[in-house]
Amino acid sequence: MASQRFVDQLNVQIGNEFAAHQQYVACAIYYDALTMPQMAGFFYRQALEERDHAMMMVRYLLDADADVAIPGVASPSNEFTDIIAPVQLALEQEKRVTSQINELTALARAENDFASDQFMQWFIKEQVEEVSTMSDLLTVVTRAKHDIEAIEEYVAREHSGADNDPSAPAVAGADA
Ligand SMILES: [Fe+2]
Ligand SMILES: [Fe+2]
Repeated sequence: MASQRFVDQLNVQIGNEFAAHQQYVACAIYYDALTMPQMAGFFYRQALEERDHAMMMVRYLLDADADVAIPGVASPSNEFTDIIAPVQLALEQEKRVTSQINELTALARAENDFASDQFMQWFIKEQVEEVSTMSDLLTVVTRAKHDIEAIEEYVAREHSGADNDPSAPAVAGADA
């Protein structure tokens, strides 16, 4: 049995992951409108990853026979001052999510909920990667802010497709 306090907090996190999805769609649209297809594609893929995170949490709760309630999300930022701002915002978002994931893990441990603790481990690893990716991208976008083609080439070279992680938790509906 998953601890009820953990279940409640994981339901909150489902909302945070969907909010991250909405925010990355907004970032993708901003770059798409600027005809920066590589940056747009990167954020469209990031958005899908966030949706998958939410749906992994849904799958876990379903498997644990726990309640799931999909929450509403606040409107994301849709207006950006320059091409650096969406990446800056994305890095802040990933750092915030890292704290949320750490708190969820600490809660599972405090409740002696070992299955939930184990479930969270993949997300801890994922957040290290996401913060690192956004931090690197922020460095590149800041350095090359007057050279859009250099940014596009970097993303094409370093972040061309979705990565396939066989250790990732199951996504609800993925085999539907
Ligand atoms: Fe996420
Ligand atoms: Fe993320």
